Amino acid sequence: MRRGSWLRFGIAAVATVGLLCWAVAGEPARGDAHMAFGGEGDVAFAEALWSAMNGYENWPMQSGVYPGMSPHGKFLKLYYNLVPVEGETYHLIIKDNFGGADLTKQTVMAAPQKHLQAVTIMLQREPGYDSGNQNWFWAKYAPDGSVATNPQGTALAGRVAKGSGQGCIACHRKAGGGDYVFANDTE
Ligand code: HEC
Repeated sequence: MRRGSWLRFGIAAVATVGLLCWAVAGEPARGDAHMAFGGEGDVAFAEALWSAMNGYENWPMQSGVYPGMSPHGKFLKLYYNLVPVEGETYHLIIKDNFGGADLTKQTVMAAPQKHLQAVTIMLQREPGYDSGNQNWFWAKYAPDGSVATNPQGTALAGRVAKGSGQGCIACHRKAGGGDYVFANDTE
């Protein structure tokens, strides 16, 4: 190769590497794809899901009200269905978390909305979403459907809280059978 050719090659190579760096650097700004949870995409998905869940109180597959334990409510109720979100259909488990003073099963059943403190969900995403953790998408909503946040202000939607020793994934990992679901464990 002549000198000039090397030079052109060098410029082209630098330009290419520069473009690649720019593309990589530009990535987080575009969709915070590197955040395990609470990123724009996860929050948008959680909001679309809340709309798709509309009317879940009437779904045929639901449990009765039953006593719960920390960190979920004093009383709980489960629902299951297949739901369409952003063009795909997913398995979804919803848990209503009831709480408050002097709560009994009867007071909850008489006025569920009044005692509802949070709605927590697990939805099984497509393969590759979170391969090490059965691809579950986790979210916690306030009763009005707004996505709850942790003390750091990060939205509780997505792979919550992947890599931490606490939170949805860390605790649900202890469920029997490795499916992260407690409800189907036999005592
Ligand atoms: C410290 C442990 C712990 C943490 C943290 C936790 N869970 Fe759970 N979760 C449980 C247990 C135990 C059950 C089953 C017993 C019950 O219903 O209380 C359960 C039940 C559930 C269920 C019903 C399906 C099942 O597995 O039985 C959903 C949905 C759920 N949790 C969502 C969440 C979400 C979303 C988060 C995070 C925002 C979360 N959980 C955090 C322990 C935990």
